[in-house]
Amino acid sequence: MQRKKRVLVTGSSGQLGTTLQKLVQPIDKSIEFEFANSKDLDITNLEAVTEFLNKYSFDYCVNCAAYTQVDKAEEDSERALLINQQGAQNLAKACHAYNIVLIHISTDFVFDGTKNTPYLETDRPRPMGIYGHSKFKGEQEVVRNMERYFIIRTSWLYSAYGHNFFKSMLKYGMERDQLSVVFDQVGTPTSAHDLSEVILKIISEEIDAYGIYHFSNEGVASWYDFAAAIFEINHIEVDLRPIRSKDYPTPAERPSYSVLDKSKIKHVLHLRIRHWRRSLAEVSKFME
Ligand SMILES: NC(=O)c1ccc[n+]([C@@H]2O[C@H](COP(=O)([O-])OP(=O)(O)OC[C@H]3O[C@@H](n4cnc5c(N)ncnc54)[C@H](OP(=O)(O)O)[C@@H]3O)[C@@H](O)[C@H]2O)c1
Repeated sequence: MQRKKRVLVTGSSGQLGTTLQKLVQPIDKSIEFEFANSKDLDITNLEAVTEFLNKYSFDYCVNCAAYTQVDKAEEDSERALLINQQGAQNLAKACHAYNIVLIHISTDFVFDGTKNTPYLETDRPRPMGIYGHSKFKGEQEVVRNMERYFIIRTSWLYSAYGHNFFKSMLKYGMERDQLSVVFDQVGTPTSAHDLSEVILKIISEEIDAYGIYHFSNEGVASWYDFAAAIFEINHIEVDLRPIRSKDYPTPAERPSYSVLDKSKIKHVLHLRIRHWRRSLAEVSKFME
Protein backbone atom coordinates (compact mmCIF):
# COMPACT_ATOMS: atom_id res chain seq x y z
CA MET A 1 0.00 0.00 0.00
CA GLN A 2 1.23 3.48 -0.87
CA ARG A 3 2.35 5.56 2.10
CA LYS A 4 0.02 8.49 2.86
CA LYS A 5 1.42 11.93 2.16
CA ARG A 6 2.15 13.81 5.36
CA VAL A 7 1.51 17.55 5.48
CA LEU A 8 2.40 20.05 8.19
CA VAL A 9 0.36 23.27 8.38
CA THR A 10 2.01 25.99 10.49
CA GLY A 11 0.09 28.94 11.97
CA SER A 12 -2.97 26.71 11.96
CA SER A 13 -5.16 28.92 14.16
CA GLY A 14 -5.04 31.88 11.75
CA GLN A 15 -7.74 32.39 9.10
CA LEU A 16 -6.00 30.46 6.30
CA GLY A 17 -4.84 27.68 8.64
CA THR A 18 -8.37 27.31 10.06
CA THR A 19 -9.95 27.35 6.58
CA LEU A 20 -7.56 24.62 5.42
CA GLN A 21 -8.31 22.57 8.51
CA LYS A 22 -12.09 22.79 7.96
CA LEU A 23 -11.70 21.93 4.28
CA VAL A 24 -9.48 18.88 4.61
CA GLN A 25 -11.14 17.16 7.51
CA PRO A 26 -14.27 16.08 5.69
CA ILE A 27 -12.76 15.32 2.30
CA ASP A 28 -9.23 14.11 2.31
CA LYS A 29 -8.41 10.57 3.33
CA SER A 30 -5.26 10.09 1.26
CA ILE A 31 -3.30 12.79 3.05
CA GLU A 32 -2.43 13.00 6.73
CA PHE A 33 -2.37 16.52 8.11
CA GLU A 34 -0.66 17.87 11.20
CA PHE A 35 -2.00 21.29 12.16
CA ALA A 36 0.41 23.20 14.37
CA ASN A 37 -0.52 26.53 15.93
CA SER A 38 1.99 29.04 17.28
CA LYS A 39 2.12 27.22 20.64
CA ASP A 40 2.75 23.81 19.06
CA LEU A 41 5.47 25.21 16.80
CA ASP A 42 7.07 28.66 16.92
CA ILE A 43 8.57 29.14 13.47
CA THR A 44 11.06 31.70 14.81
CA ASN A 45 12.80 28.95 16.81
CA LEU A 46 15.15 27.12 14.42
CA GLU A 47 15.87 24.31 16.86
CA ALA A 48 12.16 23.65 17.44
CA VAL A 49 11.42 23.82 13.70
CA THR A 50 14.24 21.41 12.86
CA GLU A 51 13.21 18.96 15.56
CA PHE A 52 9.51 19.09 14.59
CA LEU A 53 10.12 18.60 10.88
CA ASN A 54 12.61 15.81 11.44
CA LYS A 55 10.39 13.91 13.88
CA TYR A 56 7.29 13.45 11.75
CA SER A 57 8.73 12.84 8.24
CA PHE A 58 6.54 15.32 6.39
CA ASP A 59 6.33 15.53 2.60
CA TYR A 60 4.89 19.07 2.56
CA CYS A 61 4.88 22.08 4.84
CA VAL A 62 2.24 24.77 4.26
CA ASN A 63 3.37 27.94 5.99
CA CYS A 64 0.29 29.89 7.10
CA ALA A 65 2.18 31.46 10.01
CA ALA A 66 2.90 35.15 9.63
CA TYR A 67 2.91 38.56 11.25
CA THR A 68 -0.07 40.09 9.42
CA GLN A 69 -0.84 43.36 11.22
CA VAL A 70 0.03 45.81 8.46
CA ASP A 71 -0.23 49.02 10.51
CA LYS A 72 1.19 47.65 13.77
CA ALA A 73 4.25 46.40 11.85
CA GLU A 74 5.32 50.02 11.28
CA GLU A 75 6.24 50.32 14.97
CA ASP A 76 7.03 46.65 15.53
CA SER A 77 9.41 45.96 12.65
CA GLU A 78 11.66 43.70 14.70
CA ARG A 79 8.85 41.25 15.41
CA ALA A 80 7.48 41.46 11.85
CA LEU A 81 10.92 40.60 10.46
CA LEU A 82 11.49 37.88 13.06
CA ILE A 83 8.31 36.04 12.06
CA ASN A 84 8.09 36.85 8.35
CA GLN A 85 11.79 36.71 7.46
CA GLN A 86 13.55 34.61 10.12
CA GLY A 87 10.57 32.25 10.42
CA ALA A 88 10.53 31.70 6.66
CA GLN A 89 14.28 31.13 6.66
CA ASN A 90 14.00 28.54 9.45
CA LEU A 91 11.28 26.64 7.61
CA ALA A 92 13.15 26.80 4.30
CA LYS A 93 16.36 25.48 5.85
CA ALA A 94 14.61 22.63 7.67
CA CYS A 95 12.46 21.74 4.63
CA HIS A 96 15.57 21.66 2.49
CA ALA A 97 17.40 19.45 5.00
CA TYR A 98 14.55 16.91 5.19
CA ASN A 99 13.48 17.05 1.54
CA ILE A 100 10.08 18.61 2.29
CA VAL A 101 8.21 20.75 -0.25
CA LEU A 102 7.43 24.17 1.24
CA ILE A 103 4.25 26.00 0.24
CA HIS A 104 4.83 29.50 1.54
CA ILE A 105 2.12 32.16 1.44
CA SER A 106 3.03 35.73 0.54
CA THR A 107 1.23 38.91 -0.40
CA ASP A 108 0.34 41.52 -3.03
CA PHE A 109 1.83 44.06 -0.59
CA VAL A 110 5.31 43.20 -1.91
CA PHE A 111 4.39 45.56 -4.78
CA ASP A 112 4.18 49.36 -4.66
CA GLY A 113 1.01 49.66 -6.73
CA THR A 114 2.43 51.98 -9.39
CA LYS A 115 1.56 49.61 -12.27
CA ASN A 116 -1.81 49.85 -13.95
CA THR A 117 -1.96 46.32 -15.35
CA PRO A 118 -2.03 43.14 -13.23
CA TYR A 119 1.22 42.26 -11.48
CA LEU A 120 3.20 39.35 -12.91
CA GLU A 121 5.39 36.99 -10.89
CA THR A 122 8.37 38.48 -12.75
CA ASP A 123 7.56 42.08 -11.78
CA ARG A 124 10.02 43.60 -9.39
CA PRO A 125 8.76 43.83 -5.80
CA ARG A 126 9.06 47.21 -4.11
CA PRO A 127 7.14 47.06 -0.84
CA MET A 128 5.76 50.27 0.64
CA GLY A 129 5.66 49.35 4.32
CA ILE A 130 7.32 47.16 6.93
CA TYR A 131 4.81 44.31 6.54
CA GLY A 132 5.35 44.09 2.76
CA HIS A 133 9.09 44.46 3.26
CA SER A 134 9.21 41.63 5.83
CA LYS A 135 7.13 39.36 3.56
CA PHE A 136 9.44 40.08 0.60
CA LYS A 137 12.47 39.27 2.79
CA GLY A 138 10.73 36.00 3.70
CA GLU A 139 10.27 35.15 0.01
CA GLN A 140 13.96 35.82 -0.59
CA GLU A 141 14.93 33.49 2.27
CA VAL A 142 12.84 30.69 0.76
CA VAL A 143 14.34 31.18 -2.72
CA ARG A 144 17.87 31.37 -1.31
CA ASN A 145 17.68 28.32 0.96
CA MET A 146 15.87 25.65 -1.05
CA GLU A 147 14.64 24.55 -4.47
CA ARG A 148 11.38 22.66 -3.90
CA TYR A 149 9.11 25.55 -2.93
CA PHE A 150 5.89 27.22 -4.00
CA ILE A 151 5.57 30.86 -3.00
CA ILE A 152 1.94 31.86 -3.48
CA ARG A 153 1.27 35.59 -3.37
CA THR A 154 -2.34 36.34 -2.64
CA SER A 155 -4.43 39.42 -1.87
CA TRP A 156 -7.24 40.72 0.36
CA LEU A 157 -7.82 37.35 2.04
CA TYR A 158 -11.13 36.84 3.84
CA SER A 159 -13.12 33.99 5.36
CA ALA A 160 -15.56 33.17 8.11
CA TYR A 161 -12.59 32.81 10.49
CA GLY A 162 -10.18 35.16 12.23
CA HIS A 163 -9.89 38.88 11.60
CA ASN A 164 -10.56 40.19 8.11
CA PHE A 165 -12.31 42.99 6.22
CA PHE A 166 -15.36 40.86 5.40
CA LYS A 167 -16.05 40.07 9.06
CA SER A 168 -15.32 43.67 10.14
CA MET A 169 -17.86 44.98 7.59
CA LEU A 170 -20.51 42.52 8.76
CA LYS A 171 -19.94 43.71 12.33
CA TYR A 172 -19.86 47.45 11.54
CA GLY A 173 -22.84 47.08 9.23
CA MET A 174 -24.87 45.81 12.19
CA GLU A 175 -23.61 48.48 14.58
CA ARG A 176 -23.56 51.66 12.49
CA ASP A 177 -25.87 53.59 10.20
CA GLN A 178 -23.12 55.12 8.14
CA LEU A 179 -19.67 53.96 7.04
CA SER A 180 -16.88 55.45 4.94
CA VAL A 181 -14.59 53.18 2.94
CA VAL A 182 -11.71 54.04 0.59
CA PHE A 183 -12.32 53.79 -3.15
CA ASP A 184 -8.82 54.59 -4.44
CA GLN A 185 -7.12 51.32 -3.50
CA VAL A 186 -7.87 48.63 -6.03
CA GLY A 187 -7.19 44.88 -5.84
CA THR A 188 -9.03 41.57 -5.69
CA PRO A 189 -10.73 40.02 -2.65
CA THR A 190 -9.69 36.39 -2.26
CA SER A 191 -11.63 33.69 -0.49
CA ALA A 192 -9.35 31.72 1.87
CA HIS A 193 -11.44 28.69 0.90
CA ASP A 194 -10.51 29.06 -2.79
CA LEU A 195 -6.84 29.53 -1.90
CA SER A 196 -6.99 26.44 0.32
CA GLU A 197 -8.36 24.40 -2.59
CA VAL A 198 -5.39 25.50 -4.71
CA ILE A 199 -2.95 24.49 -1.97
CA LEU A 200 -4.63 21.07 -1.71
CA LYS A 201 -4.51 20.65 -5.50
CA ILE A 202 -0.75 21.25 -5.53
CA ILE A 203 -0.32 18.59 -2.84
CA SER A 204 -2.77 15.97 -4.08
CA GLU A 205 -1.55 16.19 -7.70
CA GLU A 206 2.09 16.36 -6.59
CA ILE A 207 2.72 19.35 -8.86
CA ASP A 208 6.47 19.84 -9.24
CA ALA A 209 6.60 23.11 -11.20
CA TYR A 210 8.22 24.90 -8.27
CA GLY A 211 8.48 28.68 -8.11
CA ILE A 212 6.55 31.87 -7.42
CA TYR A 213 2.83 32.08 -8.23
CA HIS A 214 0.07 34.65 -7.97
CA PHE A 215 -3.40 33.63 -6.85
CA SER A 216 -6.49 35.70 -6.11
CA ASN A 217 -10.10 35.41 -7.17
CA GLU A 218 -11.03 36.83 -10.58
CA GLY A 219 -12.09 40.44 -11.03
CA VAL A 220 -11.11 43.82 -9.66
CA ALA A 221 -12.59 45.93 -6.86
CA SER A 222 -11.89 48.83 -4.58
CA TRP A 223 -12.37 48.36 -0.84
CA TYR A 224 -15.53 50.46 -1.30
CA ASP A 225 -16.82 48.03 -3.96
CA PHE A 226 -15.95 45.08 -1.72
CA ALA A 227 -17.83 46.63 1.24
CA ALA A 228 -20.83 47.48 -0.98
CA ALA A 229 -21.00 43.87 -2.21
CA ILE A 230 -20.73 42.51 1.36
CA PHE A 231 -23.70 44.68 2.41
CA GLU A 232 -25.74 43.90 -0.69
CA ILE A 233 -25.23 40.12 -0.54
CA ASN A 234 -25.87 40.01 3.21
CA HIS A 235 -28.92 42.33 3.03
CA ILE A 236 -27.43 44.92 5.36
CA GLU A 237 -28.75 48.47 5.04
CA VAL A 238 -26.05 51.05 5.66
CA ASP A 239 -25.21 54.47 4.27
CA LEU A 240 -21.87 53.59 2.61
CA ARG A 241 -19.70 56.52 1.54
CA PRO A 242 -16.63 56.40 -0.74
CA ILE A 243 -13.61 58.29 0.60
CA ARG A 244 -10.04 58.85 -0.54
CA SER A 245 -7.11 57.17 1.25
CA LYS A 246 -5.75 60.61 2.15
CA ASP A 247 -8.91 61.18 4.20
CA TYR A 248 -8.38 57.91 6.08
CA PRO A 249 -4.71 58.07 7.09
CA THR A 250 -3.14 54.84 8.36
CA PRO A 251 0.38 54.25 9.77
CA ALA A 252 1.27 52.02 6.78
CA GLU A 253 0.88 53.25 3.23
CA ARG A 254 -0.86 50.72 0.96
CA PRO A 255 -0.52 50.09 -2.77
CA SER A 256 -3.22 51.91 -4.75
CA TYR A 257 -3.28 49.06 -7.29
CA SER A 258 -2.41 45.46 -6.42
CA VAL A 259 -4.30 43.29 -8.89
CA LEU A 260 -2.38 40.05 -9.49
CA ASP A 261 -1.99 38.35 -12.87
CA LYS A 262 -2.99 34.69 -12.44
CA SER A 263 -2.13 33.34 -15.88
CA LYS A 264 0.76 31.21 -14.60
CA ILE A 265 -1.13 29.37 -11.86
CA LYS A 266 -4.16 28.90 -14.14
CA HIS A 267 -1.95 27.34 -16.80
CA VAL A 268 0.13 25.10 -14.52
CA LEU A 269 -2.78 23.84 -12.37
CA HIS A 270 -5.43 23.89 -15.14
CA LEU A 271 -7.50 26.12 -12.89
CA ARG A 272 -10.74 27.96 -13.45
CA ILE A 273 -10.87 30.68 -10.83
CA ARG A 274 -14.15 32.02 -9.52
CA HIS A 275 -15.05 35.72 -9.68
CA TRP A 276 -14.67 37.37 -6.28
CA ARG A 277 -18.40 38.16 -6.10
CA ARG A 278 -19.31 34.50 -6.55
CA SER A 279 -16.95 33.41 -3.82
CA LEU A 280 -18.20 36.20 -1.57
CA ALA A 281 -21.77 34.91 -1.99
CA GLU A 282 -20.57 31.39 -1.02
CA VAL A 283 -18.72 32.56 2.09
CA SER A 284 -21.69 34.76 3.05
CA LYS A 285 -24.05 31.77 2.85
CA PHE A 286 -21.80 30.06 5.33
CA MET A 287 -22.28 32.94 7.82
CA GLU A 288 -26.09 32.69 7.84
N1 LIG B 1 -5.04 38.50 5.54
C1 LIG B 1 -4.82 39.03 4.34
O1 LIG B 1 -5.55 39.90 3.85
C2 LIG B 1 -3.67 38.53 3.51
C3 LIG B 1 -3.47 39.06 2.23
C4 LIG B 1 -2.41 38.60 1.46
C5 LIG B 1 -1.56 37.62 1.98
N2 LIG B 1 -1.76 37.13 3.22
C6 LIG B 1 -0.84 36.11 3.74
O2 LIG B 1 -1.58 34.92 3.93
C7 LIG B 1 -1.02 34.15 5.00
C8 LIG B 1 -2.11 33.76 5.97
O3 LIG B 1 -2.67 34.95 6.50
P1 LIG B 1 -3.90 34.92 7.54
O4 LIG B 1 -4.84 35.98 7.12
O5 LIG B 1 -4.38 33.52 7.75
O6 LIG B 1 -3.14 35.43 8.85
P2 LIG B 1 -3.59 35.35 10.37
O7 LIG B 1 -5.03 35.08 10.49
O8 LIG B 1 -3.02 36.57 11.03
O9 LIG B 1 -2.81 34.07 10.90
C9 LIG B 1 -1.43 34.06 11.10
C10 LIG B 1 -1.12 32.96 12.06
O10 LIG B 1 0.30 32.92 12.25
C11 LIG B 1 0.52 32.57 13.59
N3 LIG B 1 1.86 32.95 14.03
C12 LIG B 1 2.33 34.20 14.29
N4 LIG B 1 3.61 34.12 14.71
C13 LIG B 1 3.95 32.80 14.70
C14 LIG B 1 5.11 32.09 15.03
N5 LIG B 1 6.22 32.72 15.45
N6 LIG B 1 5.12 30.73 14.89
C15 LIG B 1 4.01 30.09 14.47
N7 LIG B 1 2.86 30.71 14.15
C16 LIG B 1 2.83 32.06 14.27
C17 LIG B 1 -0.55 33.31 14.37
O11 LIG B 1 -0.73 32.67 15.62
P3 LIG B 1 -1.11 33.51 16.94
O12 LIG B 1 -2.44 34.10 16.64
O13 LIG B 1 -1.12 32.49 18.01
O14 LIG B 1 -0.02 34.54 17.07
C18 LIG B 1 -1.75 33.14 13.46
O15 LIG B 1 -2.48 32.00 13.81
C19 LIG B 1 0.09 35.03 5.58
O16 LIG B 1 1.32 34.63 5.05
C20 LIG B 1 -0.24 36.43 5.09
O17 LIG B 1 0.92 37.23 4.98
C21 LIG B 1 -2.80 37.56 4.00
